[in-house]
Amino acid sequence: MISLVVDTLLLGAIVIFLLFTLWRSGRVKEWTTGLERKRFLNSLSRKNYGKTLDYDTSNAQDVQTSLLQEILRKHQNTEYGQKHNFKDLIDVSLFQKFHPLTQYSDYENYIQRTREGEENILLQGKPQAVITTVGALANSSLIPISAKSIRERFLQGTAVYMEVIQSLFPGALEKVARFAFPSSDSQSEAGIPNIPYPSDCVFGPLNKIYPSQISPHTSLTHYEMLYTQILFALKDVDLRIIEANYSWVLRHVFSIIEEHWESLIKDIQKGHLNLDFKLPLSIRKHIEDSLVPDAARAEDLSIQFKKGFCGIAKRMWPNLQVVIAMESGGSDLDKQILMDTFCQGIPFYSPLYCTAEGLCGVNLWPLKNVSHYVLCPSSAFFEFIPVDSSDQEQPRTLCIQDVSESKAYELVITNKDGLYRYRLGDVVQVIGFLNHSPILEVLYRKSQTLSVRGEYITESGFYKSLLQTVAMWPGASLLNYCCADSGIMGPFSGGSDPHYQVFVALKGVRDLSEEQRYKLDQTLQEHFSIYKSFRFKGSIGPVRVYLTSPKSFLKLIELAANLSGIPLDCVPFSHTLKKQELVECIWKQVLS
Ligand SMILES: *[C@@H]1O[C@H](CO)[C@@H](O)[C@H](O)[C@H]1NC(C)=O
Ligand SMILES: *[C@@H]1O[C@H](CO)[C@@H](O)[C@H](O)[C@H]1NC(C)=O
Ligand SMILES: *[C@@H]1O[C@H](CO)[C@@H](O)[C@H](O)[C@H]1NC(C)=O
Ligand SMILES: *[C@@H]1O[C@H](CO)[C@@H](O)[C@H](O)[C@H]1NC(C)=O
Repeated sequence: MISLVVDTLLLGAIVIFLLFTLWRSGRVKEWTTGLERKRFLNSLSRKNYGKTLDYDTSNAQDVQTSLLQEILRKHQNTEYGQKHNFKDLIDVSLFQKFHPLTQYSDYENYIQRTREGEENILLQGKPQAVITTVGALANSSLIPISAKSIRERFLQGTAVYMEVIQSLFPGALEKVARFAFPSSDSQSEAGIPNIPYPSDCVFGPLNKIYPSQISPHTSLTHYEMLYTQILFALKDVDLRIIEANYSWVLRHVFSIIEEHWESLIKDIQKGHLNLDFKLPLSIRKHIEDSLVPDAARAEDLSIQFKKGFCGIAKRMWPNLQVVIAMESGGSDLDKQILMDTFCQGIPFYSPLYCTAEGLCGVNLWPLKNVSHYVLCPSSAFFEFIPVDSSDQEQPRTLCIQDVSESKAYELVITNKDGLYRYRLGDVVQVIGFLNHSPILEVLYRKSQTLSVRGEYITESGFYKSLLQTVAMWPGASLLNYCCADSGIMGPFSGGSDPHYQVFVALKGVRDLSEEQRYKLDQTLQEHFSIYKSFRFKGSIGPVRVYLTSPKSFLKLIELAANLSGIPLDCVPFSHTLKKQELVECIWKQVLS
């Protein structure tokens, strides 16, 4: 009897000891989130959201018409709806005839009052949150969103692309490393949360199934946060997906790996976190509790790093299948550099064409090298301005059934949360159709065009000219760049004729001669006839090219985040600077 009691006690003690050891090693936490993730992904496959998209795209025009009617009916009694006689706007043509096209400044006052707690202004009742978004490194805007829209964006966007990944890369969603800066919520006076775009509050319960190993803590610098996430990612040889909001974040991740690999390896081997980090002990302990020493993995990684960093992603993680990052106007260069170097041979997938104002499209083709999105007809009411009339104030618009393949349009959105015939400023090209819904490629954002005299050079047009010029600078390759109208530089512009200021970070050269720098001006003249004529008349001065370091661009993003009060990785990098503070920031970091 006594021996039985002793045995039981002993067994109990052993079990407790084992559980404790497991808990110490972080495995228990891993298991529970693993289970939750599996359950969530299973429920996704059962629901089949792609089927709904198939229905919506097959009946695109009807879905759009009834969506608009529903929106107008629902908001009839808001202040905005009464002022604009929504009750009389019973069909699409009346709406287009009597409601003008709008832009952000038309809503600023309404949105301010909504944030202060007034109800039934733009949308019924109160919004669930207000999204802060910073487009083109310019002013931020605040966009209200309802709880229903948050849910719908998840179901019509996130859930659909996760299904696409599930079917193309089975099991991959269970092995994801996300690189993000955990954010803390801020509230407006009236208790309406302010959330940055993009954030998981907009994309559904992703944070729950992909929890961060580190909780937001002001004592960690951005670098320390990313370093810690990298450490956990490196430990896992079986990663299938790496993900961040934008590709510049991933470029930053890989440059940290390249620069600090020795320290990372030491940490993996010893199971501790960089001893140089000055962290509160409790945080260090919390992180190190989940870091089991792994000398074998450290050794493997060390061998790979010593072979160099080209194609390193596939060598560190042999099962890596796809990189996920959203495309923004300025992400081409970062994506190209990643694909040419660290991430060779791995497809990049930009799953959604979504803005703070609404979900526009879903990318159903992860393996295509150019991102194409099918328009989601039940997400918002869309109109299309033919691009050649997009400089007019109130041009005529087309509906979903009127657009034609290979034509370009500026997109106009009426969402469910108080924006009506709102000009997004994005110019898209219809490259085909899925059922009756257009498939879009985003060409450029109007806010990111350069224009000192009305000549309008788009960011992608400028980028092509710059690439062609860099190719004429022997040995040079482009690491990063940005440009601005001299007009916004205030005292820094030097008081000469208006011109473009261009800041480049290059690999392979230390300096450029005046003549080499002037090549950019010549290339722009060759590519853009209006620019050429202004240069010829002397009303635009020659481009000025300055050299700067790759790191200076990170500082630029940091400043943009500071200015608009959003987390660093919510800043979509843009190469066209529209704010004086930002141009001053890069100007101060010029090398020559
Ligand atoms: C940003 O806001 C300021 C003040 O509201 C305004 O003067 C400026 O024109 C805006 N800049 C852009 C690029 O919209
Ligand atoms: C995007 O950024 C937000 C804020 O930093 C973060 O919470 C979220 O996890 C990020 N998303 C991804 C996919 O990394
Ligand atoms: C995409 O791939 C096609 C064919 O595979 C190729 O012709 C095209 O140049 C590629 N485009 C880009 C932007 O890489
Ligand atoms: C941004 O804000 C942080 C915290 O206030 C500060 O440490 C950092 O220097 C700022 N960065 C820039 C580029 O202004």
